[in-house]
Amino acid sequence: MKKQTLILFALAVCCMVNPARAQQPVYLDESRDLEERVQDALSRMTLEEKVKLCHAQSKFSSGGVPRLGITELWMSDGPHGVREEIQWNSWGNAGWTNDSCTAFPALTCLAATWDPEMSALYGRAIGEEARYRRKDVLLGPGVNIYRTPLNGRNFEYMGEDPHLASVLVVPYIQEMQKNGVAACVKHYALNNQELWRGHIDVELSDRALYEIYLPAFKASVHEGGAWSIMGAYNKVRGQHACHNELLLQKILKQDWGFDGCVITDWGGAHDTREAALYGLDIEMGSYTNGLTSESEFNYDDYYLARPYLDMLKNGEVPLSTIDDKASRILRLIFRTAMNSQRPWGSFATEEHAEVARRIGEEGTVLLKNAAPDKKTSPLLPIDGSKYDRILVVGENATRSLTQGGGSSELKVKEEISPLAGLQAVYGDKIVYAKGYMSGRSMYSNIEEIPASVMDSLRADAVAQAREADLVIYVGGLNKNHQQDCEAGDRITYGLPFGQNELIEEVLQVNKNMVMVLISGNAVEMPWIKKVPAIVQSWYLGSQGGHSIANILSGEVNPSGKLPFSFPVKLSDNGAHAFDYMSYPGDSIRQIYKEDILVGYRWHDTKKIPALFPFGHGLSYTTFAYGKSQADKVTLAGADDRIVVTVPVRNTGNVTGKEVVQLYIGEEKSAVLRPVKELKGFHKIELQPGEEKVVSFTIEPEDLMYFDEDLHDWKADPGKFKAYIGSSSTDIRSTLSFVLQ
Ligand code: GLC
Repeated sequence: MKKQTLILFALAVCCMVNPARAQQPVYLDESRDLEERVQDALSRMTLEEKVKLCHAQSKFSSGGVPRLGITELWMSDGPHGVREEIQWNSWGNAGWTNDSCTAFPALTCLAATWDPEMSALYGRAIGEEARYRRKDVLLGPGVNIYRTPLNGRNFEYMGEDPHLASVLVVPYIQEMQKNGVAACVKHYALNNQELWRGHIDVELSDRALYEIYLPAFKASVHEGGAWSIMGAYNKVRGQHACHNELLLQKILKQDWGFDGCVITDWGGAHDTREAALYGLDIEMGSYTNGLTSESEFNYDDYYLARPYLDMLKNGEVPLSTIDDKASRILRLIFRTAMNSQRPWGSFATEEHAEVARRIGEEGTVLLKNAAPDKKTSPLLPIDGSKYDRILVVGENATRSLTQGGGSSELKVKEEISPLAGLQAVYGDKIVYAKGYMSGRSMYSNIEEIPASVMDSLRADAVAQAREADLVIYVGGLNKNHQQDCEAGDRITYGLPFGQNELIEEVLQVNKNMVMVLISGNAVEMPWIKKVPAIVQSWYLGSQGGHSIANILSGEVNPSGKLPFSFPVKLSDNGAHAFDYMSYPGDSIRQIYKEDILVGYRWHDTKKIPALFPFGHGLSYTTFAYGKSQADKVTLAGADDRIVVTVPVRNTGNVTGKEVVQLYIGEEKSAVLRPVKELKGFHKIELQPGEEKVVSFTIEPEDLMYFDEDLHDWKADPGKFKAYIGSSSTDIRSTLSFVLQ
């Protein structure tokens, strides 16, 4: 048969098979390869249409191509739930009545679960809510490393250790994206404080960059498969993170092979040429320069709008830059908004409430549980039958903690307060005293609460404490400005709003105090010796009260572990051990002088004990660790492995979960290295008396550090130590081995 006939025959066949497909352009045909569709769409677009994809068209959407039926991209905050609808052109809310969501626990709580399964549940549930609300990009999760306890946004992130954050961020991304909703992992990179966040220029060593601050972003791209990344507001080594040649072109897109979109933080772009050349794809934000009003800076004035189009037209920047950006944006659109196979999602459901409650329970950390005096038993769990009157003290027992805090704030369908949760369990044994007041939310400075008001609140709480059998103190920080809140840092390490005085005065009249701290940051604890039982809880969202009550009552045995250290005093923290250039900087520049020694790496290496160490968390039962074994003591080559096993037994009389942690340290190293670094962890559940053998695999890459001369990772032959424990300091067994 002649060639022409063959071609005609083939055409006829495909028309018969699916007439729609014959007319359908390639870019709309979902049976075609994604890259084919991207290139086909690109080939049909004008330069103006390509540029239109690269910037906002409204507060939370970027443009599509109406002529080709290529849809817009709709984005929404935030990492803990889907934010209420915002107006087209301002930060104000749109006043919808169908957008009250499930507030899931803050990501510090997810980190404190040390459980990838919780991360998967979280990502699936929040992805379903974002999908139902027709959002294509959810602006989260955040994985900036906890460098200082003063950072206003630590509550949105996953702690001080790159391995913990790397392991726990991945399932959240994977499960969320199965809903056809893109994660937008933020804030890339080195946005580790809020003070001067818009411009502070961070200086740090390559080792700190690669060993501490990049791993969670790399895991998000390589294991998580994140479809978008958010550029940070700050500068890094002189260039804005949103158009930073090193971070975006070299590391993210070239070295890591990221095929998704870089989206600015809102107003994070500052230069058209840099944005064109250094890897920015979509410019979002309002009033690009963040100062003038909308009318002076409309969307066509954005750096990646007309100014970019002009530079392309007069050849100041290559056309290849717009084709790269537009390809990435089309890929993101086809993966989300134009993905007809994605599920329909669900919103504010009982299932999602259950997920929120479970994560809240799994992430709450029992810091201390002693008897108030020798002759009694530990105060927790609280057996209601032993008490007639239980006084709950503290504003955090009743204050909404889903509002405020900045862009992660949520309008919720319900928010069970700690007081309501406790009343649901202990009924009218519960009485309440506010104890202290903190004033309004983040949009105003902390108004001075008249001393007379504070005194009367305190006097009332003390008077009631005198009459109570047990006091449950519920305090900590909140989402006010200069607390756990975006756009500002804390100004003290201590508890705010006169809480320390209140705690001391209550303890004087009643030493039976269970303390529940709700925060996203460590705080100073001057009363630590006098408080018998302390629980570190987090912003738990819609079901917080039930989660906390279930932990305090023993309905759920606490199993959370700290994702960051609690220094005794602020200067014990690495970022605060140097001058102001280390923190907060001189308002222009900042130098990370503690280098790789962040968090427990600092405490271990400088031998400064933390009040409560990284990885610490108690249980209502006890666990015994047997002797750890290794199948060999030498790692011979790149693909050699050592398998370490350790038996763990529940030696108490209630079922409990334990997080068995593996740290590795090089005994003598040619370069500065922390004493030990987290390289593995397993959360296991054990019935009373039950024993399980936990096993870890040690690979050569677990021994590596980033060599600055080589500009690559390497491990030096020599002696190493494996530390297995219940926290970074509660080491139950060690093993030595050699890398050849
Ligand atoms: C904010 C935050 C960012 C958020 C964005 C949109 O300034 O830094 O995390 O997603 O702007 O609200």
